Amino acid sequence: MIKIKNLNKSYDMDNILTDINLNISKGQIYGLMGQSGAGKSTLLRCINGLENFDSGELLVADTNLKHISKNDLRVFRKKIGMIFQDFALMSRRNVLENVALPMECWNYSPMEIKKKSEALLELVGILYKKNSMPSELSGGQKQRVAIARALSLNPEILLCDEATSALDPNTTDSILNLLSDINKEMGITIVLVTHEVDVIKNICDRAAIISKGRIVANNTVEDIFLKESEALYELIGKKILTIPKNHKIIKLSARNDDVQSNFIWELSTQNKTKLSIVSANIEQYKNKSFGHLYISVHDNEIESALKYCSSKKIDYELITENMMRE
Ligand SMILES: Nc1ncnc2c1ncn2[C@@H]1O[C@H](COP(=O)(O)OP(=O)(O)O)[C@@H](O)[C@H]1O
Ligand SMILES: [Mg+2]
Repeated sequence: MIKIKNLNKSYDMDNILTDINLNISKGQIYGLMGQSGAGKSTLLRCINGLENFDSGELLVADTNLKHISKNDLRVFRKKIGMIFQDFALMSRRNVLENVALPMECWNYSPMEIKKKSEALLELVGILYKKNSMPSELSGGQKQRVAIARALSLNPEILLCDEATSALDPNTTDSILNLLSDINKEMGITIVLVTHEVDVIKNICDRAAIISKGRIVANNTVEDIFLKESEALYELIGKKILTIPKNHKIIKLSARNDDVQSNFIWELSTQNKTKLSIVSANIEQYKNKSFGHLYISVHDNEIESALKYCSSKKIDYELITENMMRE
């Protein structure tokens, strides 16, 4: 659905996006995470044809955006819906009129506009507010109106730029559930840009991390959280653990039912590794659970412990100093 190949973009000689390669399949919910200023919004604006780029290929919904004419661009942009952090509703129009706006621009008949707007407001659960003004709505309600408006021209792709960043955690969950339902029921491909890691964990299939205009990780959500720890730690910027003197930390990962309850016991009794558990957590991503167990092992025993992990086919990682910074 979206193919990006070696894309580069600069503003006034500054490279903003460097060598971006991404493939987003039809029907996916794709997450794009990165710190503020990383280039996320710029990439989204390239994808919806609002912004041009210097070099590379960009294919979106069967349209090559490299040398697109103005008229083709207008037709292309019908295929893309977009929602924003600040909702971007027209303050002088009521809810129904906001949803109707794109259809008015495309000269739909008044009958059709009314029917479609009401159906969409019903879909996003806010038809009862159809005569309200945006100023009379909560943040979550405003975003529902914006979603209805973004769907009004039957787009193939929905781009969400920090769509939940201004909402409280419960409202965020309800909007994410709505997006997930829309994805399932209508088969719309969703690209979700956010700086909030939890948003990605909750609904995305695959995700990329963008840092200073470059993609530094691109994987299934499961593997982003299990394997791309360095990129993730840079993004979250958290101190993870402190290492005892002359010790190293091994991070053991487990998925779903293969939480290796006996493994620690085996490592300590059979392999005679003196270890202490530093931290353990189980997290829920979509409908799966994953666990991480951090154990600390003395430098003298680290090699033997790692060998033992390998022999038992346990997913492990030696945590290095640079992942420990605040
Ligand atoms: N129109 C513009 N002109 C010049 N620089 C811009 C423009 N838009 C964005 N930038 C710069 O591009 C970088 C990436 O911005 P942006 O894509 O908005 O990041 P993000 O959405 O990840 O926060 C920033 O350094 C920003 O200052
Ligand atoms: Mg942005």
